[in-house]
Amino acid sequence: MYNTLLTELKNSTLVVTINRPDKLNALNKDVIDELGKVIEEIYTNTEIKSALITGAGEKAFVAGADISEFVSLDAQGGMALAAKGQANVFNKIERSPKPIVAAVNGFALGGGCELAMSCHFRTASENAKFGQPEVNLGLIPGYGGTQRMTQLIGKGKAMELMMTADMVGADDAKALGLVNHVFPAGELLQKTMDILQKIHTKAPLAISAIIACVSEAAICDSKGFDKEIARFGDCFATSDMKEGTTAFLEKRKAVFNGK
Ligand code: COA
Repeated sequence: MYNTLLTELKNSTLVVTINRPDKLNALNKDVIDELGKVIEEIYTNTEIKSALITGAGEKAFVAGADISEFVSLDAQGGMALAAKGQANVFNKIERSPKPIVAAVNGFALGGGCELAMSCHFRTASENAKFGQPEVNLGLIPGYGGTQRMTQLIGKGKAMELMMTADMVGADDAKALGLVNHVFPAGELLQKTMDILQKIHTKAPLAISAIIACVSEAAICDSKGFDKEIARFGDCFATSDMKEGTTAFLEKRKAVFNGK
């Protein structure tokens, strides 16, 4: 049914596995389109009470947006990419009436960290690593990361993580409030499912109301998301962005000149 996702309904939880392990499950156009479709399924299929998003393989949850698709985009294209992804996937996950949880099983970088942060909460395996390394590419986060990371861990820590591109391990991510629980890799899915099973015993309409109210409290200034889309697009008109993305694909270090 999907080309880039595996889905399985287990005890009323739809387990969604992003399945491009050879590219560390990077979010290309197909993955974004199919995530949009699977979220519609989560909204509308009455057999589904909750969803869990994870990544295929042992190395990565999602290592970011697919950088190879960035190279040909101009400012307009960059803005459109961010706007469409935010509207069809990231905002829809956040606003889902049913709980959607990220079980982070490895690298959650860039769009991968943003995907996890758009979920209602996160669990992680001991080998998980989180970060927003877009500045390495002459870019900024474009799928809501500037807003949701600030909401989740506070302004100062979010600023430092995004400006340094540093990665944090699972225990540090837990201390920061980025994840709720850290489990051994082999137990991650089951332990996360156990939390969802507990939620399934509660009143579904009350659960939906909690999601709606908590999400509203976190969105202090929704204009921030629009500003992020515009600034993300602006980056695509810079020579630093061309240098950053090309350097990644050529497996070398980028040299930036501020232009
Ligand atoms: N977009 C496209 N391809 C990606 C990718 C991404 N975000 N992340 C990884 N890949 C690809 C690599 O190009 C490589 O492909 P290849 O085998 O055809 O050369 C493959 O996935 C494996 O990644 P590799 O870099 O060889 O693994 P590693 O263990 O040496 O490094 C990372 C792992 C996560 C540190 C590294 O892949 C990385 O820095 N990825 C990009 C992270 C990023 O900047 N994300 C934000 C994007 S906006």
